[in-house]
Amino acid sequence: MKLVIGCDHGGFELKQEIIKHLSSRADLEIVDKGCDSTASVDYPVYAKAVAEAVAAKEADLGILICGTGIGMSMCANKVEGVRAALCHDVFSAKATKEHNNANVLCMGARVIGPGLACLIVDTFLDTPFSNDERHIRRINMFS
Ligand code: RB5
Repeated sequence: MKLVIGCDHGGFELKQEIIKHLSSRADLEIVDKGCDSTASVDYPVYAKAVAEAVAAKEADLGILICGTGIGMSMCANKVEGVRAALCHDVFSAKATKEHNNANVLCMGARVIGPGLACLIVDTFLDTPFSNDERHIRRINMFS
């Protein structure tokens, strides 16, 4: 599976933790779209880079991290074909894959710690879409 990841300065340290956490997974190829430090940057730049990579099918899934996850999710959802979900709990990460076939996970590094964030990432990556007719119908209604 190809995963594209991005952050702003508020999410940089958590992004590094997540990349380290995922490094043991042989099934993953990770593309890091930046940013590369805690120096202040503009989150829309990184949201666009990740969202466009997912929309263009250069990657199967994306992860975006800023301070709250809110700005990243707003930006990512402007890109056609992207279904970005802001998740700060494991239940939502599982449900948004099963029901919404979310293809971008957004999180806020000022909201949750690295332990929970890594569990959310694992759940997001490992939960398949349900393929239920009702969920396909609903996704098509907003796509
Ligand atoms: C940056 O200070 C902060 O606004 C950003 O990380 C994010 O929380 C925006 O939604």
